[in-house]
Amino acid sequence: MAGGPSTVELAAGVMQAGGFAFLAGAYLSPDRLRDDIVRLRSLAGGEAFGVNLFAPNAYEPGSAARVLEYATRLQPLADKAGIALGDPVHDDDSFDAKVEVVLAERPALVSFSFAWPPADVVDRLRAAGIEVWVTLNDASETAWADELGVDGIVAQGWEAGGHRGGPVDSGHPQLPTRTLLQSIRALTSLPVVAAGGVADPVDVAGLLADGAHAVACGTAFLRAEESGTAEVHRHELTRRTDTVVTRAFSGRSARALVTSWTELFTDVAPAGYPQVHHLTAPLRSHGKATGQPDLVHLWAGTGHASARSAPASRIVELLQSRL
Ligand SMILES: Cc1cc2nc3c(=O)[nH]c(=O)nc-3n(C[C@H](O)[C@H](O)[C@H](O)COP(=O)(O)O)c2cc1C
Repeated sequence: MAGGPSTVELAAGVMQAGGFAFLAGAYLSPDRLRDDIVRLRSLAGGEAFGVNLFAPNAYEPGSAARVLEYATRLQPLADKAGIALGDPVHDDDSFDAKVEVVLAERPALVSFSFAWPPADVVDRLRAAGIEVWVTLNDASETAWADELGVDGIVAQGWEAGGHRGGPVDSGHPQLPTRTLLQSIRALTSLPVVAAGGVADPVDVAGLLADGAHAVACGTAFLRAEESGTAEVHRHELTRRTDTVVTRAFSGRSARALVTSWTELFTDVAPAGYPQVHHLTAPLRSHGKATGQPDLVHLWAGTGHASARSAPASRIVELLQSRL
C-alpha cells in the first residue's frame, strides 16, 4: 500500500503472525526502498515478504490537453486552500533503479502493478531466484501473463481498495473478486492470489476453498496500529459508508470513500497516470496535513467497515481464524 499506509513495522507485524507481507516500492526513492528492505529483515528476521513496484505506464498521446483541462477545474479548490497545483509530469517512478535494488537485495518475490513489467526485467529477476507476480483485473489478460513467464497472478477484483493494478485501466466496471478468481483459474495453471473486498475470515476461507493460492488484503490493515495511514483517513474509514471507483485523484481508476472531490470530479477526470497524480499531490498532502477529508484520496475497499484498529498480527490472526 504505497503512499504511506505500508510501513516496515506493518510488514513486520504481518510476518510475526505468519502472514506473507509486502513492502510498497512505489513513490519511494530507490535508496529508501533499499533501506526499507534491510530494516524489515532486521526487524522481522525472516524472508516471508515481497516488494511491489509500479511498472511504468506508456505516455498516452493527447493526454496533456485533457490533464490541463482538468487542472482548470481543480484550480478553485487549490485557490481556496492557498496551494499551487503540482506539475503534471510523466515519469517512471525511478523504475530501472528500483529494479536494480530488488535484484541486489533479492526479496522472495516482486509483484508488479499498473503495467506489464518488461520481459527482460522478468527474466533477470527470475534468473536471480526472485518470483515475479503480476496483478490483473481482467481475465482476458491471463494469456499475456502466461506468455510473459511470470510465477503467479494476483486477481484483483472490483471490490478492491486503491488503484486497479492491472496493466490496462479500462475505466469500466470489472468482475468481482470471486468471479475473477474463477475466470482466471479456468485459463491458467499458474497460482492465483485473490484480492479485493476481503474483510473477514469467512471471505478468506471461501476464496481459499475456491482455489485461491492465497488471499491478499489491503483495506483490512488500513487501521492497523503499525500502518502509516493518515489520521484523517483512519477517521473517515469509520464514519463514511459509500465507496466509488474514480480517476479523480491520480488519473488511474481507484476505489475510494465518497467525498465531495469524488462527487465533483469522477465524471470529468481524465485518464492520465501519473500526470494527474502529480497535479493533485500538493492539494492532497495539504488535505492530509490539515485534516480535510474532502481534499484527500481516502482509498478504501468495499469491506472497509470491518477494518479494525488493532496490531497487524492480531488482524492476521482474525483473518485466518476460520482456517
Ligand atoms: C491504501 C491502499 C494502497 C494501495 N497501494 C497499492 C500499491 O502500492 N500497489 C498495489 O499493487 N496495490 C495497491 N493497493 C491495492 C492492494 O494491493 C489490494 O489489491 C487491495 O487492497 C485489495 O482490496 P482490499 O483493499 O479490499 O483488501 C492499495 C490498496 C489500498 C487500500
